[in-house]
Amino acid sequence: MAGEQAGTDRGSLQELARRHLWMHFTRLAAYDEREIPIIVRGEGCYVYDERGKRYLDGLSALFCVNIGHGRADIAQAGADQAAELGFFTNWSYAHPPAIELAARIASLAPGDLNRVFFTSGGSEAVESALKLARQYFELSGKPGKHKLIARETAYHGTSMGALSATGITGLRQPFEPLTPGGCHVPSTNTYRLAPGIPESSLAEAVAHRIEFEGADTVAAVILEPVQNAGGCFTPPAGYFERVREICDEHDVLLISDEVICAWGRLGEWFGAQRYGFQPDIITTAKGMTSAYAPMGAMIVSDAVAEPFLDAGAPNSFTHGFTFGGHPICAAVALANLDALEREGVLGHVRRNESGFRAMLESLRDIPIVGDVRGAGYFQAIELVKDQDTRESFSGAESEALLRGFLSEELYRGGLICRADDRGDPVIQLSPPLIAGPEQFEEIEAILRPVLTEGGERMRRRRA
Ligand SMILES: Cc1ncc(COP(=O)(O)O)c(C=O)c1O
Repeated sequence: MAGEQAGTDRGSLQELARRHLWMHFTRLAAYDEREIPIIVRGEGCYVYDERGKRYLDGLSALFCVNIGHGRADIAQAGADQAAELGFFTNWSYAHPPAIELAARIASLAPGDLNRVFFTSGGSEAVESALKLARQYFELSGKPGKHKLIARETAYHGTSMGALSATGITGLRQPFEPLTPGGCHVPSTNTYRLAPGIPESSLAEAVAHRIEFEGADTVAAVILEPVQNAGGCFTPPAGYFERVREICDEHDVLLISDEVICAWGRLGEWFGAQRYGFQPDIITTAKGMTSAYAPMGAMIVSDAVAEPFLDAGAPNSFTHGFTFGGHPICAAVALANLDALEREGVLGHVRRNESGFRAMLESLRDIPIVGDVRGAGYFQAIELVKDQDTRESFSGAESEALLRGFLSEELYRGGLICRADDRGDPVIQLSPPLIAGPEQFEEIEAILRPVLTEGGERMRRRRA
């Protein structure tokens, strides 16, 4: 009877989802014939579907759940705050959780990044940074500086301003014309750097683009410490040092988009600390609360905040979101940061990242594994047709491999990860930061046979 009841519930959830839920970035028609994966519970590195089947969450629920699933203590901090003050706004008012969180973030952020503007997520943080850069230069007597330089294939969010930074043609085209001013330079995809082109040219491309556009028109450069889209592109040695110099030479703000790369994902509080550079603004979200509540932030240097503090010419940043700094989310973020600190999670990532990476490197004997790259608990495997020539799969082949086989098969095998072809086809892995050798072994046990079979299928398809 109980089973029947559960069966009915499952059926109706599937039906209701099919009829009413608009899933993001999802081909809804793909579920006409297939079940929608419905996740109902999480614990540690694992989540469970509506049938009770367990999956290793190798993607931290989209790079979010850094502390792991099922942390009732972190949720409880939100409930306690709700009982005290469920909501008040940061528009002209402050409240203790937002104040304490801003001060805590300032104490963790590199250098003089001391001023924190809260948002509800990553796109809003990026949007805020782009607007702040424009208004900063307007107040500084340089109103012509409004353009933004980002990297090709990078993902910086979906709101219209953030989308002008996003460098993925397929995500931009349906919504053109975009906010003007978005320009792009090559990513740090060193695996596909043409022979004879030095890695140093990648930073120089930023200088070239600023000079081409005219430094008087460029407000900011926005880069992720490790670029997610395209598959975890790490910076070559000296890249950020040189980009910082270039930005200083041309009076251009450097925004480090750390929606993914902060909060221990790379083994440090911020990705900029891992690579030793000082941004003017950091944008972040996701792991800040381990996604137990939706929250993002823009963290701003004293120098960039300065024109907004001038008592002689009172200027406000004419921008805001009702829910920015929401007290429940701020309380959750504080509890999450406490847990990350108390439980030594960043040190755990630093100690274990080489084991994680070694496991992925061990898959290089599979013929379709072309490259393994990334940093910390943020790694990718690029899939190729030919390891020696690095020939990539065509669009149709990539579609057949990723959507026609790998995604479903890995999920069926009990592993949630990302099979992505916004650039060349990659599998991305980004487990909760509490994962260790046991989970790495489990990931390998699922990945190895599925990647091997995927390669075989592609070989047979060609034969
Ligand atoms: C680097 C980066 N910037 C911005 C965003 C957008 O964040 P959100 O989806 O919270 O709006 C993302 C999302 O994945 C991201 O990875």
